[in-house]
Amino acid sequence: MTTASINLMNDHVHILRLTYVMQVMAQQKSKDVEHFKSVVSLIRNFADGVHHIKEEKLYFPMMVTKGFSTEQGPVAVMLNDHEQGRMYVKGMVEGISLASKGLSTAFDDIYRHMFGYAELLQGHISKENNILFKMADDAFDDKDQEILVAEFAQAEEATDSEFKFASATSKIAKLAAIYGVEQESMDFAQMASQQPMSCHG
Ligand SMILES: [Fe+2]
Repeated sequence: MTTASINLMNDHVHILRLTYVMQVMAQQKSKDVEHFKSVVSLIRNFADGVHHIKEEKLYFPMMVTKGFSTEQGPVAVMLNDHEQGRMYVKGMVEGISLASKGLSTAFDDIYRHMFGYAELLQGHISKENNILFKMADDAFDDKDQEILVAEFAQAEEATDSEFKFASATSKIAKLAAIYGVEQESMDFAQMASQQPMSCHG
């Protein structure tokens, strides 16, 4: 049976790939503003768009009906991660705007926020895949899963065609090809050790 968790984990494969692309872009000190804009729009419309709508408006609320709290515990941690991610994206957008106006030092801000976002999301997705979804799957029955999967389909249907799953993942794959990120399971541990400190704001 396709479960809501499997649907979300399927999104995660592509969101993770996008975070790897972001790390390579920052590592290589890319100056391609159009690529940065494309990353932001993929985050806002796909990762923090339809994917987080499915989690925040449908999946987490179903967990709440099973007794989970939004104030403390795993759901609260996930919601806090989503908020932190939005701060990194805001930082990227501000950096892109300044870089577009010719301020060359703004690129370092973009890289710092991209590293921060990528690191945050990689940890976040690992927590969801390995801990939160297992707790939810234990709490949900078949009917709950059916309801969520149907509601997810509606959320996906309501998404702008440019950022529906097939289109968004194809945009991510194109960026991944440009930056040489061919696999979603690349080992970035070594790369991370060479990165500047990311900002945790
Ligand atoms: Fe997620």
